[in-house]
Amino acid sequence: MKKGMECMGKAVNPFIPLYRTCDTGTNEEKYQLLKDGKLTVPRYLDVELTNLCNFQCCFCPTGTHSMKRTKGMMPESVMERLLEDVRKHQIPGVRVIGWGEPTLHPHWMEFLHDVKSGGALVHLGTNGSRLSDEEMQQLIDMGVDSIKFSFQGADAASYGEMREGGDYHQLVETVQTMHRLRGDKLLPFIQISTTLTVESPEQVTAFRKEIEQYCDYCNIGYTMLNHLSVDAMDVSAEKREKIRKMQEQEAVHHVYRTVCSDAFDKLDIHWNGDAVLCCSDYDNFMVVGNILDQDVTDIFQSRIAGLYRDMIVKGEYGRIQCCSTCWETVPLTK
Ligand SMILES: C[S@@+](CC[C@H](N)C(=O)[O-])C[C@H]1O[C@@H](n2cnc3c(N)ncnc32)[C@H](O)[C@@H]1O
Ligand code: SF4
Ligand code: SF4
Repeated sequence: MKKGMECMGKAVNPFIPLYRTCDTGTNEEKYQLLKDGKLTVPRYLDVELTNLCNFQCCFCPTGTHSMKRTKGMMPESVMERLLEDVRKHQIPGVRVIGWGEPTLHPHWMEFLHDVKSGGALVHLGTNGSRLSDEEMQQLIDMGVDSIKFSFQGADAASYGEMREGGDYHQLVETVQTMHRLRGDKLLPFIQISTTLTVESPEQVTAFRKEIEQYCDYCNIGYTMLNHLSVDAMDVSAEKREKIRKMQEQEAVHHVYRTVCSDAFDKLDIHWNGDAVLCCSDYDNFMVVGNILDQDVTDIFQSRIAGLYRDMIVKGEYGRIQCCSTCWETVPLTK
């Protein structure tokens, strides 16, 4: 989910200056900064500690087993290399996110701690199912900058339709606990996100009323459903039919976004060290290197990264699989 209706509380997300810079300028202007050598270090990294998950969400390539990539956990060698690169190049931010559930990694907490001690801003994106109160307290104590809990739908029933394996009420309780434990502190900035398919305005209003009091930012977007091939999914025939029907209900206009939020600004590092140019790239459609072989800044400035950026800057989205469905997430009702 990239963009949607937003509401802001009092605390401020430390990542906002980074996001604003990424949102500044056209693709051409952003590309020129790279060509002129004015931007040599990614503005931030998205790091996937694992592409394994304890949920089977029907809109996700991990949850539907349509992802072709080998499954795994980030080995120590990749973690060490990442930490070294973040420190050496003073990369301003790291978001622990990706195409799996990061809290399944046995060393996820240590990794966040080490990134934070290295001076970078740290964000965690999670389905919230595995966080204990003690772990939430540790996140607060280490000063983690931001945490996002992912919902889907707008109530227990619509969440349950999308997020098999999850428990809506438990997730609401986890967000409440995080908010309570944080108390008067301003970090972590607590965000929740959800995406809609067929939910009514009344459901959305009730959802906001329930959850907004426990978070600083609530992002409500639209569920993308047509970027995944149902035939490639390893799910039951019944679930396949359900997803096909949902795809017909996708509430998004297929209008290409005008400015690319990723390829000119940042890198995504998959669990085995592969670097790709976009957080939407779940199956290595745009691999530009591997951090075990190359320095992260060399990857960011590599010729292969330039070839993909050339296509994006020309608006040739159809030539790259993940860009070919990179819609503005404008709802159909607008
Ligand atoms: C892939 S998940 C990984 C992190 C973690 N497992 C979680 O669920 O938050 C990252 C985010 O992508 C969002 N996402 C994945 N597929 C999506 C889709 N088809 N449409 C909208 N959002 C999607 C999820 O809702 C989640 O907030
Ligand atoms: S919890 Fe996150 S990674 Fe796991 S299946 Fe759902 S969206 Fe995908
Ligand atoms: S999918 Fe392609 S165009 Fe869209 S944000 Fe990612 S890299 Fe940019």
